[in-house]
Formats: sequence, C-alpha cells, structure tokens
Amino acid sequence: KIIVLDYGSQYNQLITRRIREFGVFSELMSHRITAEEVKAINPKGIILSGGPNSVYDEGAFSIDPKIFELGIPILGICYGMQLITYNLGGKVEPAKNREYGQATLEIVSDDAVLFAGTPKEQTVLMSHGDLVTQVPEGFEKVGTSKDCPIAAIQNKNSNIYGIQFHAEVRHSEYGNELLRHFAIDVCQCKGDWTMDNFIDMQVARIREQVGDKKVLLGLSGGVDSSVVGVLLQKAIGDQLTSIFVDHGLLRKDEGQQVMDALGGKFGLNIIKVDARDRFLTKLAGVSDPEKKRKIIGNEFVYLFDDEATKLAGKEGISFLAQGTLYTDVIESGTETAQTIKSHHNVGGLPEDMQFELIEPLNTLFKDEVRELGTQLGMPDSIVWRQPFPGPGLGIRVIGEITEEKLEIVRESDAILREEIANAGLDRDIWQYFTVLPGIRSVGVMGDGRTYDYTVGIRAVTSIDGMTADFARIPWDVLQKISVRIVNEVAHVNRIVYDITSKPPATVEWE
Ligand code: XMP
Repeated sequence: KIIVLDYGSQYNQLITRRIREFGVFSELMSHRITAEEVKAINPKGIILSGGPNSVYDEGAFSIDPKIFELGIPILGICYGMQLITYNLGGKVEPAKNREYGQATLEIVSDDAVLFAGTPKEQTVLMSHGDLVTQVPEGFEKVGTSKDCPIAAIQNKNSNIYGIQFHAEVRHSEYGNELLRHFAIDVCQCKGDWTMDNFIDMQVARIREQVGDKKVLLGLSGGVDSSVVGVLLQKAIGDQLTSIFVDHGLLRKDEGQQVMDALGGKFGLNIIKVDARDRFLTKLAGVSDPEKKRKIIGNEFVYLFDDEATKLAGKEGISFLAQGTLYTDVIESGTETAQTIKSHHNVGGLPEDMQFELIEPLNTLFKDEVRELGTQLGMPDSIVWRQPFPGPGLGIRVIGEITEEKLEIVRESDAILREEIANAGLDRDIWQYFTVLPGIRSVGVMGDGRTYDYTVGIRAVTSIDGMTADFARIPWDVLQKISVRIVNEVAHVNRIVYDITSKPPATVEWE
C-alpha cells in the first residue's frame, strides 16, 4: 500500500482515493509518524500532501527526516515538495504573489519519470504561497511554469519526486497519469486491490476491535449508516443492535421505509425510538446553525446512552458505530485542516461520551461507499438513496425550527422527490431537496392577497460532496414542481431555485 502523510490540504484524501482507483490500497496518516513506524507499516510508497503552512511558519508541520533514508519512493505535492526541498538542502522562498489557479506546466527534461507519455505542455492547478528556488543536491528540475520556475523536481537515484501543483484534482489535466506512474511504475504496486479486500480488511479489524463485546449502531436510514449496519452484521452478527431514532426531522415516510428495507431482508435487529418531542423541545427557540447541529448531535448520543442503559445494563454495550465519511471528517476540521461546518456525527459529540467509536467508512467518499454497499449485496433502493444529513430537516428549516415549518419542508420535499423521479432524473442529480429560508412575501391567489413563505429548491450534481454544481433541471420539470408545491402545501406562495455551486456555497443551507 501507499501511505499519504497529512499536511492539512482540503484535497489530501482525494489523493488516497485516486490511488485506490488504480487498485492500490492507500490510507491517510498523521505527519507525526516516525521513520520507525513507517518501517513497521512497510508501505511501497509515501506521498506528502499539500497544506496551508509555509515551511518557515512557527509550528509548521514537519517530517521525521529519517523517513528520507528508508529507501521508500516519495512524492511530495505542493507543501510536500517544499518540505522535501527544505529538508534535503534546497531553498524555499516566499513567492511575490500567491499563485492560485490553472497554469501551464512545461516539461523540461526528456527523462521526467512521472510525466512519461504526457505532453510537453499541460494544464495544472497551482495553489501556493512559497516557491522552491533551488533544488537539493542530487535533484534535477523537470518542470517549470511562468510564475513558478521550479514546478517539478526528481531524484531518480533515491526515487524522490516533487511537484508544486495538485495532481489529485481534475483541473490538472494529466494528474491522474502522474499519480499512476508513481503508484504503479515507481512504487511497483500491483494494482489488484478491490472493494472486496476492503470488506475483508474491515471485517477483520472490526472483529479484532470488538471481540465479544456489543455494539450499538445509530441508523439514520441514509446510505452510510445502512452500509455500516450491513458490514457490522457481516462482521459480528447479533452482537449488533441498531437504533433508529425518529427525531422528528425525517423526510416523509422515511421511518417505515428504513424498517422495511434493513430490518426485513438484511435481518438487522432494529429498535425504533420515537424521540420527536425530546428533540423539538431542545431545539425550541434556537436559530444558530452551529448550535442546532451541536444540539442534534449531542442529543443523538445521549439518547443512545439512555437506550443502551435500558437495553442490557450499561456494561453490556461498549461501542457506538457511525457512518461517518471522510467528507464529514475533513469539513468538521481535523488536526491539520480548518473547520468548514461541524457535521453532526463528528463535531457534535459530547465530551463525556460513554462509548468507544467504530467508524469503518471514515476514509471513504460517498461513491466508494455506494460501491461497497453494492459489493455487500445491498439493493439499489438503499445504495442509491440520495445523501441525507444526520441533522435532517433540522438544517433545512433555516433558523428556528417549528412544527409548522417542518411540515412545509417535509411536504414540499416529498413533492420534489416525486417529480424528480417521474422525470427520470433521480440518478443524475446527486442530491435534491427543499429548504425553508423563513422569509415571507406577498402573493396573489384567486382574488386575494397572500403573505406566505418562500420555498427554495436545492439540487446539485457531485461526485463526492466536496464540490458540487447546481443541477440544470429542465424548466418544465421545475414548473411542475413549483405549481404543485404552491397548490398542495399550505402557507407557500413562492418558489425559488438555488443556482450556486459549492464552493462558494455549500450543499445544505446551514
Ligand atoms: P455541505 O452542506 O457540507 O454538504 O456542502 C455536503 C454533503 O454532506 C451532507 N451533510 C451532512 N451529512 N451529517 C451528515 O451525515 C451532517 O451534519 C451533514 N451536513 C451536511 C450534505 O447533505 C451533503 O450531502
């Protein structure tokens, strides 16, 4: 396998993911890892990720310099290249201007190992403040761009490579080829790893971690926790009890669908808890999105705690399993990355939590989880469910949550989903839902004036939720949805369509 050391770039798990796509297992690890620890893992290659630091910053993330002496091939990306240069005796200096965006890279060596078979000029994504101005001894410059004279370096003898641009993002035209050259040609990985291996590996890990103890799973009905449920069922069978919480923030008919699908064919032992009052009471009067997320997250875990006590006497259940994905982890902020927003199952955990966590999906992206679900034999109706956030409709009623507002979102969302399915668009659009911004405006219905709510439609296409583009739903479909919502849902007189992408917006409104 290839390990990626984490220096805090928002893209770093994309690197592991690209490598996995070549059939090579890859995992992100802390940059604090020592050479001894690396030796014990014995990876075929090491990638140093990008990151927001300058190597000269106080407290800048560093690397155990003995890692360079292990003889394992190394690729440094962006900050990673500067780290190589800085540690091996080259020079890194601040650039006059921070460079961000697409640039043309020119390959200046006939023997540029990672660029074999790709054009002499190619588009790449640059994002950096510092520059390498002198290569370390034994290295040669192999690529250059207008604003970055030394944009790619290599040392063939010691198999150490550096690139200033981000090969892992699609904006870098031949980035994928570059990473493949590194993984397959330089590191000589076979490329025979598959999702099946991942299942076997996780089943073994879970068995080892859990032993003969009991596990509680919070089932949300979404793809992620459902896949965790089926994976755990496979690993530990009836040591697993699942709890499905109706927090009053679910979509229309969702509760029953979940019970039927997972309790039925897959035989998960599911306890359904009606906690609608409990959640809505806690949320009354709260309008700050981060507070709402924290309350919902905390309440979830307290509730599990209560249920676990009721279930088997506290000592019986030691673990809490969650369907946390990599995107949830990175956006909630990690040791190295900044907080974008706290996802309920990460940032919202109370400090006095009684459980140890099991999060077998926390290195995966959504589409990889879908592939995993399919490998586990799960039906499309679960695997291809659109993502639904843990805090549910609670973050789609903007500001303070009331029963009336929830009802509007729930009913309008049901209509939207029905019409998207009728138009055959449900696989093409990654996620689609309605939001209630809480503004009211003037309308006219029949002969009368109305003063009612506006409903927003949000629909995006995405591959992994990290970035998203607003979906181009045909006008006639939108019109049908608009007419139906205004006619069928009380207190709505206006529909708007959200046409922002992520970034700069996020998928959810809160
Ligand atoms: P954002 O709004 O962060 O959403 O662009 C990206 C994806 O994550 C989902 N999401 C969540 N999922 N817990 C979850 O399990 C959360 O707290 C949460 N917040 C957002 C969102 O629906 C989208 O698919």
